[in-house]
Amino acid sequence: MTEAASMFSDGKAYERMMGRWSRVAGTTFLDWLDPPKGQRWLDAGCGNGAFTEEIVARSAPAAVSAVDPSEGQIAYARKRPAAQHAQFEIGDAQKLDFEDNSFDVAIMALVIAFLPDPARAAAELARVVRPGGSVATYMWDVEAGGTPISPVGAALKSLGITPGQPPNPPASGRDAMQAFWDNAGLVDVETRVIRIPVVYSSLDDFWDSNIVPIGPMGALLGKMTSGEREQLRARLREQLPIAADGSISYDAVANAVKGRVKP
Ligand SMILES: C[S@@+](CC[C@H](N)C(=O)[O-])C[C@H]1O[C@@H](n2cnc3c(N)ncnc32)[C@H](O)[C@@H]1O
Repeated sequence: MTEAASMFSDGKAYERMMGRWSRVAGTTFLDWLDPPKGQRWLDAGCGNGAFTEEIVARSAPAAVSAVDPSEGQIAYARKRPAAQHAQFEIGDAQKLDFEDNSFDVAIMALVIAFLPDPARAAAELARVVRPGGSVATYMWDVEAGGTPISPVGAALKSLGITPGQPPNPPASGRDAMQAFWDNAGLVDVETRVIRIPVVYSSLDDFWDSNIVPIGPMGALLGKMTSGEREQLRARLREQLPIAADGSISYDAVANAVKGRVKP
């Protein structure tokens, strides 16, 4: 398992921290993709299957193959209702274990900034999709502070602590995604921004959802002392937009790209 994948081994905690937002943004992404029903899908970097479930629920696929290098995430995904309609396997988006032209649609949801070689993944997705089929991805705009967990990063920075980040933040930029898709030989390439509201009922809800051993930020939080965590909580109380009823809401922002394999 890669280092990036080992940061995502707890499927249940992932669900609370990211899965619910991944589903909201993923819905907009799927509406934009608007593929016909009855297609053969590849979900590369499927994680715990949160987004795979949306594919199954909304796109009436003929078949779904879903791959991720994290054994913990795949084990969680296999217990989801979506597993009745999707095949979850260990796999790497940069080196796909599928024949050419195996799918009608291939997507990666919230993965590209975790890849050391996104260009290779784009080429792999294009390779396994038939001529005329769709290849698409979306990712929180990491460098623009678009991730749902970005307030934790801002609080850590203000305390002089470097926040945990995915290994390849520049890959989440809109222009970077366009270039990966163009360079993979995809045609009719389009990009867009996806903006979603992120809402917590209270600071406790925010804390319990985000201070979890998930992703690069989780790896950093796990190493902090209880004193440092208390400082972080106090700083979040100062910096988060907490409403009079105690709720917290702000926007998360992602970039998306789609294109077709040359017919
Ligand atoms: C933020 S999660 C996204 C999961 C899911 N697609 C979603 O939308 O909820 C990022 C995922 O990328 C996976 N990942 C890391 N390196 C990968 C690689 N080389 N190929 C495919 N997936 C990878 C991680 O294991 C993790 O499950």
